Amino acid sequence: MSLEPLRHAVAGFTRLVDSTSDEARLLAEGRTLLGALVADDNWLPDLYAEPNPERYTQYLLWCDPLERFSVVSFVWGPGQTTPVHDHTVWGLVGVLRGAESCTGWSRSADGKLLRGDTHILKAGSVDAVSPTIGDMHEVANARSDAPSISIHVYGANIGRVHRHVYKPDGEVKSFISGYTERPLPNIWID
Ligand SMILES: [Fe+2]
Repeated sequence: MSLEPLRHAVAGFTRLVDSTSDEARLLAEGRTLLGALVADDNWLPDLYAEPNPERYTQYLLWCDPLERFSVVSFVWGPGQTTPVHDHTVWGLVGVLRGAESCTGWSRSADGKLLRGDTHILKAGSVDAVSPTIGDMHEVANARSDAPSISIHVYGANIGRVHRHVYKPDGEVKSFISGYTERPLPNIWID
């Protein structure tokens, strides 16, 4: 198993954030980079593909030293789902294995939660979020009998970002996600 695809994506995102801070360009060119990474499901070490029976997990794969982007492996066990949440920075979600159900949400002027469309992201598909294009969503494993895994790239060290969870009754809670405890993969070894 070679981490070359991840190394290639990390180099690509580093060049991209070096070249622009324009969100539309970051999302468009980042979509191509992440699409190439999730087109190949032969590189993610098992250590970062392990579901936790209690809740979905997030393993940091890489963080830019200047925290301009991070790459995270999200693993959903059967039936696991996120709460409705936001990101506060741009983000790209690429499904590596299985399928995920994504529901967009928004808030009315008086704070009510408004449910948007649900779509299924299959392996190889990439979705985008950001405060500009829509930042609130809920993601669930679309498979009831097996884990699903997606690779996410965010425009910050996402595990340290202050963001929000939205409860059905309208309550908004701040949270910082952190990461599931794992050493970083060594992308320099084949
Ligand atoms: Fe999300």
